Amino acid sequence: MRTEQSKTIYLKDYQAPDYLIDETHLTFELFEDHTQVHAQLVMRRNPALSAELPALVLDGQQLELLELKLDDRELGAGDYQLTDSTLTVQPTQASFVIDSTVRIHPESNTALEGLYKSSGMFCTQCEAEGFRKITYYLDRPDVMSSFTTTLSGDKQKYPILLSNGNPVASGEEGDGRHWATWEDPFKKPAYLFALVAGDLWCVEDTFTTISARNVTLRIYVEPENIDKVQHAMDSLKKSMKWDEEVYGREYDLDIFMIVAVNDFNMGAMENKGLNIFNSSAVLARAETATDAAHQRVEAIVAHEYFHNWSGNRVTCRDWFQLSLKEGFTVFRDAAFSADMNSATVKRMQDVAYLRTHQFAEDAGPMAHPVRPDAYMEISNFYTLTIYEKGSEVLRMIHTLLGAEAFRKGSDLYFERHDGQAVTCDDFVKAMEDASGIDLTQFKRWYTQAGTPRLAVSDSYDAAAKTYTLTFTQSCPETPGQSESSKLPFVIPVELGLLDAQGNDLPLRLQDEAAAGSNRVLSVTEAQQSFTFVDVAEKPLPSLLRGFSAPVKLSFAYDRDQLMFLMQHDSDGFNRWEAGQQLSVQVLQELIGQHQRGEALVLDARLVSALRTLLQDDTLDQAMVAEMLSLPGEAYLTEISDVADVDAIHGAREFARQQLADALFEPLWQRYQANREVSRNTPYVAEAEHFARRALQNIALSYLMLGDKPEVLAAALDQFENSDNMTERLTALAVLVNSPFEAERSKALEAFAEQFKDNALVMDQWFSVQAASTLPGGLARVQALMEHPAFTLKNPNKVRALIGAFAGQNLVNFHAIDGSGYRFLADQVIVLNALNPQIASRLLAPLTRWRKYGAERQELMKAELERILASGELSPDVYEVVSKSLA
Ligand code: PHE
Ligand code: ZN
Repeated sequence: MRTEQSKTIYLKDYQAPDYLIDETHLTFELFEDHTQVHAQLVMRRNPALSAELPALVLDGQQLELLELKLDDRELGAGDYQLTDSTLTVQPTQASFVIDSTVRIHPESNTALEGLYKSSGMFCTQCEAEGFRKITYYLDRPDVMSSFTTTLSGDKQKYPILLSNGNPVASGEEGDGRHWATWEDPFKKPAYLFALVAGDLWCVEDTFTTISARNVTLRIYVEPENIDKVQHAMDSLKKSMKWDEEVYGREYDLDIFMIVAVNDFNMGAMENKGLNIFNSSAVLARAETATDAAHQRVEAIVAHEYFHNWSGNRVTCRDWFQLSLKEGFTVFRDAAFSADMNSATVKRMQDVAYLRTHQFAEDAGPMAHPVRPDAYMEISNFYTLTIYEKGSEVLRMIHTLLGAEAFRKGSDLYFERHDGQAVTCDDFVKAMEDASGIDLTQFKRWYTQAGTPRLAVSDSYDAAAKTYTLTFTQSCPETPGQSESSKLPFVIPVELGLLDAQGNDLPLRLQDEAAAGSNRVLSVTEAQQSFTFVDVAEKPLPSLLRGFSAPVKLSFAYDRDQLMFLMQHDSDGFNRWEAGQQLSVQVLQELIGQHQRGEALVLDARLVSALRTLLQDDTLDQAMVAEMLSLPGEAYLTEISDVADVDAIHGAREFARQQLADALFEPLWQRYQANREVSRNTPYVAEAEHFARRALQNIALSYLMLGDKPEVLAAALDQFENSDNMTERLTALAVLVNSPFEAERSKALEAFAEQFKDNALVMDQWFSVQAASTLPGGLARVQALMEHPAFTLKNPNKVRALIGAFAGQNLVNFHAIDGSGYRFLADQVIVLNALNPQIASRLLAPLTRWRKYGAERQELMKAELERILASGELSPDVYEVVSKSLA
């Protein structure tokens, strides 16, 4: 597998395509043991280039060429050259037509890229470079063509035949086969092509657009799942409306389809008019999907729908520009989710996720800028940096420009570039042109990798009544970029100053007229001071409100100040943030005690801060739930210089236990009150209900640490007598992590029996056990791999069991005998041959070896080396392993 593909590709080598494809006409004949693909490409020399006619090099992999024609002339073996990834032909005229016929094998495609089969149906995944596994083509996003697609297959097995655009014709072939033709009038790159053939049912609805066009909406699923699509349909309609209202974007075809497939490498895919989704990102109903799953469905449906403009109508020139569509679309879906639910809670969750996972990526061997300048395998660059940090970069532009100018910029971007394949620079230019703001320095966010540090100090001059904040920024070294080579970023710092009563003070900088109480400072220099005037008393600063920039901020707050901010900050996000910082300080103290072998002593201030929150029933319950959640072990790992796995786990568990004991009364009271409402309220997938269940469930997870019989009884009751998966799964999780062995195995058995035919619910069942930190984790995971519901061929299963073990069960995965590492490497080696994309993603925890002590470092490196030496590596796995050993 590792041939010339492990070459590095550079942004600086970008060249416009020699030839363009105006029309693509495809015919698929689907059979059980092969598929035949005929492609007719209407092509011409790129008019932007010279009149010479260089050789035409088409991409193609794993294709069996049956026939090739140039302008109706059959080409013989001497007329073209084939390699395992290209087909080269010499055109003789500026305009010409290429006809090719190839045979492919979707029935044995386990990589789930190109055309493949999932649970008996045919489907495709072409982003980023999967189309070349379907036919010979110019498989690059700056080649945009109209598509006509005809598919034919057995009528009984595949009654539904779908592709992009509008259906234009269909018919019978007489031998039990039928066909359908679809036409997509919008020019698109090949990565947005899709085809589906299967025995599917659909739920249909309509949406009337702002200009009164009727759009047919269909969600296709396997028949047994037809009762689980209403939530996705509702989400779709909300998304369509929201994009009209907030971005002025109207849908453009007469039909919009979503198809759910069980075997899918990612969450979902935005193919034009025919989104293909991992079933986990579509199916949701109370009995089988948690609140988190409902919110994830809503967000992913929105994300893929929003791509119709940010990605499809305006696409990427090359894959280095991936964040152009992904960062923008994540930014859009986050704003949508914030509008649909609680904006502050959404922000807290996104920031916690970013700081835990993207910051770790930024500090690891695969760190790369939001716009990378080199890659070996593009599939490895669908990263948290491209998506989440990319979204933060857009959020900062939004903050710096303001909502109105940002909207003008996005209107200009869509208008200027509709139908084009463009770059991140084009996007920023539209923002600059619409706002008049110069973003030259700001663009360093696109080119410099790593998470900037922002240290802040203050001083108050009582006589002059001035208050000065001094910011110092730096950015650590990342692969290929030394610390000293990095230039200062533009860091928007939203802030307020609190007086002794906790009220926001008016903020006026020297030489300024007006004063507000909340403002954004642009920090643009390596070191920079801002002086506020007329400050009557020494204030307490509330910095980086709403997490206005993706940086590591440090300011020497003491614990009393953090408690004060927790109670008084007018910014809800920063109240939570103060609580997180307080918890981090307290936990780090415990980690130190653990490491020195001292008795652990929890700072009572954390107890009292959380007690105050629990006793205040005027607070948003979702917020209280989030504030009760201590920073995770993965985050504590990320912020350690050398992560001590056992001390982190020991300290955090100790704190949880202490909090559970000290706060038993208020926790029990709020648990019972909320459970009572849950018991008497039918399930509703809305923010207020999510909030109630979130608080109820975090309370239960603390309460269970107390070994009290009334709590065990409550957990069992919640497990047995809930109408929804949110309550049931939490009850199962607390039982699985409890010492009550009999109850635990009984619950696990009952759950598996009830849901054995529901793959997505069984994924939850695997995950809950894989994440259990009780001793013996690896043995449990190994036993579960033998379970009939488990298979390495399904990415959701791999993530649910192996991914959850390595990513969430840190004490067991990092067992000091190296058994967890060995296990993960074994699975990566098997998956490398089956599904390279999944193998390379699964590998991520091993690449973080530099974070740990010497003993673990050696063990982790040894496993990476074993993978490297294991034989034929896919480019995906090779790139990640070799870079993490470099
Ligand atoms: N483009 C998809 C999205 O973010 C993700 C994806 C990438 C899916 C590659 C499949 C393969 O919406
Ligand atoms: Zn996307």
